[in-house]
Amino acid sequence: MIPGMGPIRYFLNPRADPGQPYGPELSAILNAKAHELAFQEISSLEGYGPTPLLELGGLARRLGIRSLWYKDESTRLGLGSFKALGGIYGVFRALRDAVGGDLALRDVPGGDPALREAVAGLTVTCASVGNHGRAVARGAALLGCRAVIFLPARTPPERMQAIRKLGAEIVTVDGTYDDAVRRAAREARERGWTVVSDTAYPGYEEIPRHIMQGYTVMVREALAELPVGVLPTHVFVQAGVGGLAAAVTAHLWEILGPDRPRVVVVEPQEADCLLESALALESTPALESPPAMEPSASKGSLATSMECLACRNPSTVAWRILREGVHAFLTIPDRAAEETVVFLRRGLGGDPPVHTQPSGAAGLAGLLAALHEPGLARPLHLDATSRVLVFGSEGPLFRRNDHE
Ligand SMILES: Cc1ncc(COP(=O)(O)O)c(C=O)c1O
Repeated sequence: MIPGMGPIRYFLNPRADPGQPYGPELSAILNAKAHELAFQEISSLEGYGPTPLLELGGLARRLGIRSLWYKDESTRLGLGSFKALGGIYGVFRALRDAVGGDLALRDVPGGDPALREAVAGLTVTCASVGNHGRAVARGAALLGCRAVIFLPARTPPERMQAIRKLGAEIVTVDGTYDDAVRRAAREARERGWTVVSDTAYPGYEEIPRHIMQGYTVMVREALAELPVGVLPTHVFVQAGVGGLAAAVTAHLWEILGPDRPRVVVVEPQEADCLLESALALESTPALESPPAMEPSASKGSLATSMECLACRNPSTVAWRILREGVHAFLTIPDRAAEETVVFLRRGLGGDPPVHTQPSGAAGLAGLLAALHEPGLARPLHLDATSRVLVFGSEGPLFRRNDHE
């Protein structure tokens, strides 16, 4: 039996209406045309290939559900997480806008020497807890510009080292990821650098949109890898600022329409900005329509072993998708994600061993927690007929297939 995994909090979102079409407000953020462009560019990268979609039949049987698929991002572009899709594409889009030329990922290295020189004079910057910084560093190295990455001082040294190895400069910030976001924005303003942030905030939304559009390539792959004619009924996806969850929600909604699965967003107990935002929206008087739509901050400590999810504030653009499209918001204790890492590694009931870290296992841990909670499982129709898709958003730190 899977052990009970400690206390959870959740909110069933009354706004997620199954019959609602993917409307123009959301299309303005993420859409199939922009997805196609992102796919063309990203799939032209050397080393690109779909990551595996693992069917974990042994675990599904133990859990009493019909099927369970785990999209394993541990081999993504040699960087070990789905963030590679967004960070590299975000750098590309930012640089293309900056130089105003025909920059194309398929032409690098090489391409037009004048463009190369223009790009070489630019600096991209971002805040990160590790994976996004690594992806931005790789994008900068590929395209030939400078990268400066702001990291909270308590970022694990191995994550810092992985960024440095790609040639980026690192600045540590006393404080949280959100402090690093503000510092990167300020330094960029003062020095004329280009911010390539995975999180959006008022006045800065364009690049984060492109980054989320990059993440949708992973969702396209998952749909193509499922057995023919079979769709998931549920998706459990972990969130920090919500960019990943929004990309997953939006793409499935736009492509599958009314056949889209129910989506559950999973956050750490101590970094629950999306759950807080959903609760705040619910308590807004109905007369205020559209209600106060700005998302809320987490009041938690942000201390969590799901370190990539330790964010105080949601991404504003991600939130606009999530508040309409997500069926439930769920928070889990660290222990749940940590135990999930351990039994994934063991491989239950003949399943292949899977290697990840607590942030990567959090979506699956959320599924396990939800199955133990009738108040959540019942209204979500999570039962023996369910076919569930989760995203193993990163691999283990020391097993990454580093090209560099
Ligand atoms: C491994 C991993 N999983 C999940 C996430 C969450 O993504 P988002 O912050 O877009 O919600 C991140 C973010 O950095 C991550 O690195």
